[in-house]
Amino acid sequence: MTARSSLTIVLAAGEGTRMRSSVAKVLHPVAGQSLLAHVLGAVPAGQGDSLAVIIGPDHAAVADEVKRIRPDAVTFVQAERLGTAHAVLAAREAIARGADDLLIVFGDTPLISADTFARLRAPLKSGAALAVLGFRAADPTGYGRLLVEDGKLIAIREQADATPAERAIKLSNAGVMAFDGRKALEIIENIGNANSKAEYYLTDAVTIVRDFGLEAVVIETSEDEVRGINTKAQLAEAEQVLQARLRKAALDAGVTMIAPDTVFLAADTSFGNDVTIEPFVVIGPGVTIADGAVIHSFSHIVQASIGKKASVGPYARLRPGTSLGDGARIGNFVETKAAILEAGVKVNHLSYIGDAHVGANTNIGAGTITCNYDGFSKHKTTIGAGAFVGTNSSLVAPVKIGNGAYIGSGSVITKEVPDDALAVERTQQVNREGGATRYRELKTRDKPPKGS
Ligand code: UD1
Ligand code: CA
Repeated sequence: MTARSSLTIVLAAGEGTRMRSSVAKVLHPVAGQSLLAHVLGAVPAGQGDSLAVIIGPDHAAVADEVKRIRPDAVTFVQAERLGTAHAVLAAREAIARGADDLLIVFGDTPLISADTFARLRAPLKSGAALAVLGFRAADPTGYGRLLVEDGKLIAIREQADATPAERAIKLSNAGVMAFDGRKALEIIENIGNANSKAEYYLTDAVTIVRDFGLEAVVIETSEDEVRGINTKAQLAEAEQVLQARLRKAALDAGVTMIAPDTVFLAADTSFGNDVTIEPFVVIGPGVTIADGAVIHSFSHIVQASIGKKASVGPYARLRPGTSLGDGARIGNFVETKAAILEAGVKVNHLSYIGDAHVGANTNIGAGTITCNYDGFSKHKTTIGAGAFVGTNSSLVAPVKIGNGAYIGSGSVITKEVPDDALAVERTQQVNREGGATRYRELKTRDKPPKGS
């Protein structure tokens, strides 16, 4: 059996005024990803599956997000918002290519799953011209109602045009549709705007399909899956639904969480075996946690990879570009950014390690700061393997500290420290006479023996 080809059109031209934000609605995040990224992650993306996204005239940022996720996608601009059918026709040239299945979905419906698209496409194989995704709304106000007779969908009535009897119907239009791709263009081009809002409603496709003597059907799903986001309150509700799903998936995959409701995950968080996450941890996008790692309470982690049996927190902040080797330990009140910490590195207390590379098994004492920013640009700190940085040291980047070097506590290191050197570099701003003294000591002998 050869797979059917598809074209998916995502409608994302809306202003999203009710979000009260200068950011386009579909770019707001849930579980660390934009609404649009969630939708684009669920639509068909195999061989023979193409994608078009309809955006508004000032939506360059939306177009960028589309390209980032699906470089093969085409964006079309709907210059004037004249309704959902009008929006679909902005992609007329893509529809005219005649894929087997034409799928239409809204960009603000982030909880939709790939499986639902597959279920919706199934009736097309057996000859239906249109399949509409429906759900039983707890409160259907505002949704288009699905009018069904003898198991066949006969019309969708928008709220504004519905009679009181029709408004009592709970079966509602989710906004996701699948058309027979070769008939779709003719059907959609026949949609007019004779309704109370003078808009071209995609939902009118149902009566046109029937007028053509073709068949329209309903495929049902749960309300949770098709929640549309129009307000910040709905954004927060969707976040709850997604977090519940992500926590359950993590628990099912063997992650230990004794208070899962207090742990926030991202849609792309990846876990090895036997990972433990203590209560009150926030994990943003781009985080990988390897086997046996433990994330202690109150840690905040974004775009970071955490090695096997590493330990993070409590109260640690791992910022983008952090990579922790196997067995690394990051303790309380430690912040890392763009920092590679090789296996066995310890940074146990009150430190900032940014724009840095730290070799295996190096110990960084409490209060150590990589001074990566001189007020103009960022510079790198490189620390070798097996080194020891004494407490309260400032490493003024760009700077290199060799393998096995030993930095005395309170040092302000401004010059390269060679391998195995003992360095104590201190600036004493005020001495007893009121003047400033400085001293610098750099030796390769006299290093305290290991373990002293
Ligand atoms: C729509 C459906 C309704 C359904 C509901 C589900 C129609 C006419 N109505 O109503 O049956 O129950 O969704 O949430 O389809 N858009 C454009 N350009 C336009 C108009 C809309 O891109 O000119 C996009 C919007 O950005 C949005 C989507 O289409 O992503 C739906 O538009 P919206 O105005 O929110 O439709 P609803 O009134 O919610
Ligand atoms: Ca809507």
